[in-house]
Amino acid sequence: MIPPLAYTDRYYNEGTRIYSSHADYTEADQQYRPNSIFESFALVPLRIPKSQVNIYTANPTDQLLNRYILKEDVLFCIHPQVLQHFQSDPYIIRMQETGTVAGSITVAPSSSTRTLYVLDDGDISHAVKVHFPFRISRYGRKMRDEVIEQAINISMELENGIHHLDDKFGFLREVIGISHKNLNYLTARNENWGYLVRDMLPFPHLLENRILLPGFALYGKNFFDPEKPPLLFELIGSNDPLVFILENVMLPIVRHWVDCFLHFGYMLEPHGQNVLFELDPSGGIERIVHRDLSVGIDMRRRRQIGLSQDNLNSYNRMESGEFNSITYDMFMGSHFFDAIAGCCIERYPELSPEDFRSPCRKLFARAFPNHREFFPETVHYFSEERDKFNKPLYKDTGKTPEWRP
Ligand SMILES: Nc1ncnc2c1ncn2[C@@H]1O[C@H](COP(=O)(O)OP(=O)(O)OP(=O)(O)O)[C@@H](O)[C@H]1O
Ligand SMILES: [Mg+2]
Repeated sequence: MIPPLAYTDRYYNEGTRIYSSHADYTEADQQYRPNSIFESFALVPLRIPKSQVNIYTANPTDQLLNRYILKEDVLFCIHPQVLQHFQSDPYIIRMQETGTVAGSITVAPSSSTRTLYVLDDGDISHAVKVHFPFRISRYGRKMRDEVIEQAINISMELENGIHHLDDKFGFLREVIGISHKNLNYLTARNENWGYLVRDMLPFPHLLENRILLPGFALYGKNFFDPEKPPLLFELIGSNDPLVFILENVMLPIVRHWVDCFLHFGYMLEPHGQNVLFELDPSGGIERIVHRDLSVGIDMRRRRQIGLSQDNLNSYNRMESGEFNSITYDMFMGSHFFDAIAGCCIERYPELSPEDFRSPCRKLFARAFPNHREFFPETVHYFSEERDKFNKPLYKDTGKTPEWRP
């Protein structure tokens, strides 16, 4: 039996954050961490006038719209750790002056810590992705206005262009974005922030009742019982392990990465946390559901296919291929696929990493013949140096790619 997402997303993720020296770092307080025994916590939104915020939407259900956007006001979700530690943030000060405290929402952290599942409705119908300017892994986790707006732009574009993807592709839509209006402080970029509402029903919507399982939960250990066998083997069942993993996991994800790139210029980040498997009641993998739409956007590809830039803002636009390599070679290949292959090989030592990599390279070459136009020859990754906004710079590792030719 595969447990529900609310459980696996928190408690089947032990031992997976070893892919970089920063991966297991967190500044979240214990009670707000996914891997803690605290079941839930209260999020207390402020109710503030609509005139004070920017509102972005991408086809939210009426239910979500009516819940967060009221007649004159909006609900502004703020993580409690931010309220505790950032009392002098100008946006907090302003909202506390003009806002009133609204009824509290019971939430639980998802695996990314700053995306919170809303538990009030029984089923998890949606999540809120909130501003969390503390460092988790390599990054501080702000939710600035342009990031919020771009996630809504991408959700809308992907929903409208869903016919470009195969029927194994699903994604979690970002349907509402709310940010405080810019107060025009003298900062090098706009620092006004807010939150997103994420629809947890995978799109395209299917009626059947299906379970979502995070990618890392295939090989992650159970928080309460590290001796439990990996869920990967439960899914493989009596199937051939190599064929099962290639056909149900790796090849569809490679195809999705390539299709999103070719049709939209998006650089999906399919690491173990951003990928969910949608399972039918007997445990078969029906779709790959992608979450987290804060993707890099290759403007060279968009120009090549004549795709308009009008509906995008300037966040995460890219004009060169380093980040293509970071997402494909490192996030997907090194952080995720190598972990799955490693877990499988431990039980089936007659298999080798090359058995998994070679078919992926072939598919990549076939589906994306002009990849050399967009990818560097060698693998790129983050360097330890940072820009003025504390964003990591990139470096050429000099290594030969393993998951593409
Ligand atoms: N096995 C894992 N692999 C990668 N990241 C993981 C894993 N487990 C937990 N994480 C956490 O998930 C986050 C991944 O970063 P990423 O930018 O993809 O997500 P996010 O934008 O914070 O949130 P979301 O995915 O909910 O939109 C980090 O906080 C990282 O520490
Ligand atoms: Mg993520």
